[in-house]
Amino acid sequence: PATLRVAVLGCGVVGTEVVRGLLDNAVELRSRTGTQLDLVGIGVRSTATPRDAVVPVDLLTEDLTGLVERADLVIELMGGIEPARALILDALAAGASVVTANKALLAQHGPTLYEAADASRVDLFYEAAVAGAVPVVRGVRESLAGDKITRVLGIVNGTTNYILDEMTSNGLDFGTALAQAQDLGYAEADPTADVEGFDAAAKATILASLAFHSRTSMDDVPVQGITSITPEDISAAAQTGHVIKMLAIAEQGEHDGIRGLAVRVHPALVPETHPLASVRGPYNAVFVEAEAAGTLMFYGAGAGGAATSSAVLGDVVAAARDRVNGGKAPSESAHAALPAMPAQAV
Ligand code: NDP
Ligand code: HSE
Repeated sequence: PATLRVAVLGCGVVGTEVVRGLLDNAVELRSRTGTQLDLVGIGVRSTATPRDAVVPVDLLTEDLTGLVERADLVIELMGGIEPARALILDALAAGASVVTANKALLAQHGPTLYEAADASRVDLFYEAAVAGAVPVVRGVRESLAGDKITRVLGIVNGTTNYILDEMTSNGLDFGTALAQAQDLGYAEADPTADVEGFDAAAKATILASLAFHSRTSMDDVPVQGITSITPEDISAAAQTGHVIKMLAIAEQGEHDGIRGLAVRVHPALVPETHPLASVRGPYNAVFVEAEAAGTLMFYGAGAGGAATSSAVLGDVVAAARDRVNGGKAPSESAHAALPAMPAQAV
């Protein structure tokens, strides 16, 4: 196609930066995809809300259903379950490709969405849903597709890493550090998802599904957040040469002779000499252990509008290229279930 009609759903922290990228990089995106990406609308809750100067106000609309109907490629950056789920299903059913950063939705309804994408033979990409700018989804899904992954472990939530880092390095109290993370655009609209560990659990669920070709459910992930971590805990950790980091861990193993998958999220004591201890601010780091590749580390900005827009736009380029070439990436819908194992201590 000479042009692809692109709809952006959501114009908040991430959506604004994606709109900026689509408009500022239009020439480069055209040459990299072989087609013109024509931004046809930006769906929001209220068109009356003041926006960044980069956002063309004439493209704003509160009619998201109507916007989806006139798009070939839908970029969902609203967050939440509904109406994001219904709008993505509408888009896929109508034959549009979809790019989303919505880990909560994927962790809860991933299989339904992957099957809908398969049925319509269109792409559903979600690099930004795990670890912001860090290309760990593509790494696990594509680069390591010929290997056998045995363990995935790391820091996958920027807000909690920022809070723990500020409490450790600058002596900030929890509430002040959280407020700063919200101001900087790292936190979810409801930051409970960050500080209670549910956002990390959603990302762990997505990574585990990809790494172990398994349908992992959030219900199988024991979660502990950081709300009960005190300055005294941080000092006590420092006295023994440790820092406290919130980790997500997914590993294959055997329990009672049955091969299964254990996924968990919790704060852990990390030795100051370990590479994870030097992950600062909203940065994320994910170690992936695979039989042939050995241990790989994926590291970079895990939250924030601009960083996340990089991952979203990378997916947009991949989806646009597939439409130009008449292809579609394989989806996750054919995954077999691996039994969930009881979580083990680190
Ligand atoms: P924001 O809360 O900043 O923005 C959400 C946008 O979606 C707003 O423009 C809002 O409209 C719109 N919106 C929300 N609900 C509706 C609705 N029911 N109908 C119409 N419009 C709606 O969120 P973020 O940009 O931070 O996050 C967006 C997505 O990206 C989420 O899934 C999040 O988990 C994910 N993500 C965020 C990252 C980050 O660092 N912030 C990093 C990686 C992923 P209005 O402006 O009118 O209120
Ligand atoms: N709230 C999330 C975080 C955004 O802090 O990691 C990135 O997914």
